[in-house]
Amino acid sequence: MAQRGTAIVLIGFMGTGKSSVGRALAQRTGLPRFDTDQMVMRSFGLSVAEIFSNCGEGVFRAAEDQALANVPLCPAVVVTGGGILLRPANVELVRHLGVVVNLVADFEILIERLRRRSTRPLLQTADPRATALELLRIRQPLYDATADVTVDTSSLTHAQVADEILSRTEEIRFHAS
Ligand code: S3P
Repeated sequence: MAQRGTAIVLIGFMGTGKSSVGRALAQRTGLPRFDTDQMVMRSFGLSVAEIFSNCGEGVFRAAEDQALANVPLCPAVVVTGGGILLRPANVELVRHLGVVVNLVADFEILIERLRRRSTRPLLQTADPRATALELLRIRQPLYDATADVTVDTSSLTHAQVADEILSRTEEIRFHAS
């Protein structure tokens, strides 16, 4: 694939703060923000949970692939859903768009954050904690291998994470442009 873009692309597990940090980054930089979950929801006129229950995960994943493919190659903040890297082509795509930032958090903190919201269809199981652990076991290596930079959000505010991302990606983005 040709030269990489200069977007800041957020990847990582559910509850690591991608959406909120993406909003903080867009506010700080004035860059446009593309959030694949929101793009999918807008195209269906349904929530993610409704798309999963009405159409199934496969339909959601296809729409998510399409949303990512529709993100323009321009300076932007790109927020991805936690399962985006399950499709190998998306690994290439996120890296093509720009510098890839992996948000992580301590497992207990993730679980606490995820408990506060019941919007994640994949965690509507008898044992959400075990489900999250299993999903992380499969996905963390993908996030780690794809990222240029990793930021631990466990004890930082969204604004602090945004600042950390800007300072740690500045050089990479500068060299890419
Ligand atoms: C998913 C994560 C969600 C959303 C969907 C599936 C996943 O996004 O795309 O519920 O497979 O991890 P967030 O990571 O923003 O919660």
